[in-house]
Amino acid sequence: MFPPSPSSTFTPTQTVSLQSIEKPFKALVLGSSGTIGSAFVQALQCSPGCSQVVGISRTSHDKFALEDEASIARAAMHEKANGPFSVIVDATGALTIDGQGPEKRLAALNAGQLARAFEVNAIGRALVLKHFIDLLPRQGRCLFAVLSARVGSLSDNKLGGWYGYRASKAAGNMFLQTAAIESHRTRPEAVFAALQPGTVVSKLSSPFQSGHTTVAAEDSVAGLLTALDRLEARAQAWFIDYQGNTIDW
Ligand SMILES: NC(=O)c1ccc[n+]([C@@H]2O[C@H](COP(=O)([O-])OP(=O)(O)OC[C@H]3O[C@@H](n4cnc5c(N)ncnc54)[C@H](OP(=O)(O)O)[C@@H]3O)[C@@H](O)[C@H]2O)c1
Repeated sequence: MFPPSPSSTFTPTQTVSLQSIEKPFKALVLGSSGTIGSAFVQALQCSPGCSQVVGISRTSHDKFALEDEASIARAAMHEKANGPFSVIVDATGALTIDGQGPEKRLAALNAGQLARAFEVNAIGRALVLKHFIDLLPRQGRCLFAVLSARVGSLSDNKLGGWYGYRASKAAGNMFLQTAAIESHRTRPEAVFAALQPGTVVSKLSSPFQSGHTTVAAEDSVAGLLTALDRLEARAQAWFIDYQGNTIDW
């Protein structure tokens, strides 16, 4: 098992076999209605040895919503009987919320919009961790990955702007990191990772992707699964991109 390799030697294949996961295994994807979430569902369904992929979204599970802890707990309870899941991916997240896009300037900040970004991207993420960590196996290697974003890196922030999205993604990363430390005591072979998928054309990104090089969702997900497969379990989370590079927090 290795830390991720640099992008120059990184060649993901479209059908990703998770060599590090004992077969057969089950997988669960939250945000399965989204572009990246549905690409994860498809890739995992094609992954050799994967016997079942459960998708969770606002449409699949009655009233599932990141703003409603009871709905998250209900979905986790419902799927517990189908587990354990050796691969869990949280592909939820939002950039435009209640019709409000990202703020470019301090003067554009308002408390309500900031609170909504945190409710969805940070608190929702924390509550998903709280209720879904127990669906990982107690023993053996397993993966818990969450869709973060490079803009959630404090050290990588060179352009500014996007205050609420950046800050809520950074907070989501901190929840993941803290959960990884706690979980390592009981699940030493679990790998936790925050993922940067590249710019993938989706409902979330399409109003903002002009000028960016885009990557197809299936290529991004193939790269992310390949990189996840190579990560070593440790008492820390990883922050990686779809080309297998680590990102500074
Ligand atoms: N696309 C990119 O270029 C890009 C770049 C960096 C990071 N990311 C991250 O990747 C993740 C997936 O993005 P995507 O591009 O696939 O976007 P997407 O197609 O809009 O998918 C977002 C997913 O999150 C769900 N979701 C949003 N708000 C929710 C809420 N309040 N309660 C429950 N579910 C909610 C959506 O459910 P509905 O279908 O019901 O709306 C959907 O399943 C996000 O965390 C995003 O920040 C994306």
